[in-house]
Amino acid sequence: MASRSARPSRAAQTRPKVIVTRRLPQAVEARMAELFDVELNLDDVAMTPEALAAAAARCDVLVPTVTDHVHSGVFAAAAAGGRMKLCANFGVGVDHIDLAAARAANIPVTNTPGVLTDDTADMVMALILSVPRRLAEGEKLVRSGEWQGWAPTGMLGHRITGKRLGVVGMGRIGRAVAARARAFGLTIHYHNRHRLPGELEGELEATWWDNLDAMLARVDIITLNCPHTPETHHLIGARQFGLMQRHAYIINAARGEIVETEALCAALAKGTIAGAGLDVYEHEPAVDPRLLAAPGVVLLPHMGSATFEGRQAMGEKVIANIRVWADGHRPPDQVLEGWA
Ligand code: DGY
Repeated sequence: MASRSARPSRAAQTRPKVIVTRRLPQAVEARMAELFDVELNLDDVAMTPEALAAAAARCDVLVPTVTDHVHSGVFAAAAAGGRMKLCANFGVGVDHIDLAAARAANIPVTNTPGVLTDDTADMVMALILSVPRRLAEGEKLVRSGEWQGWAPTGMLGHRITGKRLGVVGMGRIGRAVAARARAFGLTIHYHNRHRLPGELEGELEATWWDNLDAMLARVDIITLNCPHTPETHHLIGARQFGLMQRHAYIINAARGEIVETEALCAALAKGTIAGAGLDVYEHEPAVDPRLLAAPGVVLLPHMGSATFEGRQAMGEKVIANIRVWADGHRPPDQVLEGWA
């Protein structure tokens, strides 16, 4: 157990030096400028690992986001006489931050849970609808000018209602996806480390599968909604695709690294599964060319939480975490192990 986090200095309590690694919504940046001695990244170019370590030496608070690799050197620089005492992430996922190094350096890490749940679940639902119903193909067809009009056998896809949805990870987002999916007539199956309380399970009429393999073999659509941790890295690989039904679809709006890209491309090429809906990729922003070429695949640019309202609320959470910390209290969204 790490000892109590270092307390903010007197100067940090009144007007902490805050370095923000990417552009944030205008209102968030403006409020930060009122409250903090803030350094913004007006070019919006992701900082290099060296620049991040240098930032740790001269700020009280670093505000990174998913595009930064907040490596052990950042925390080592802070521990070795640097100034940084808090890492207040803009975003819920913290797999880009070396949490063990943060803990060793006694630097709390905070995130922004809750405020992007509905937006992300909406996007998952959009992918659940888009892939079996061929939405992206249909849109392209109209734009191409080649659409010949309605036909009894034109653009046939697969019905959603009555299908089995397998939710991997029943945290906030997984549960929000399940609630939406129920309204579309899907039956809910889930795999999670811990079984949901009976009342919640009852509300969602959800079936818990202790064994992921068994669930994968049984469901029609799989949605990944777990955090990316060492335990979930490449959770879905060749063996797992081999268990899925040939008509199954996989949806991933969590983190690309949960799926082994090689295995996904092979499963799509061989017809081991019928399609995929992806909002995240293993080596973002690079997208494997085989995914770009594969039929039955809908690809989005990591936009699950991309609403004006959501990004504003994320910024407000970052500000609240910094303010509470500067006042000498435990920030509300302090991450203990992986995602909160
Ligand atoms: C998150 O919050 O982790 C998203 O992936 C980025 O918005």
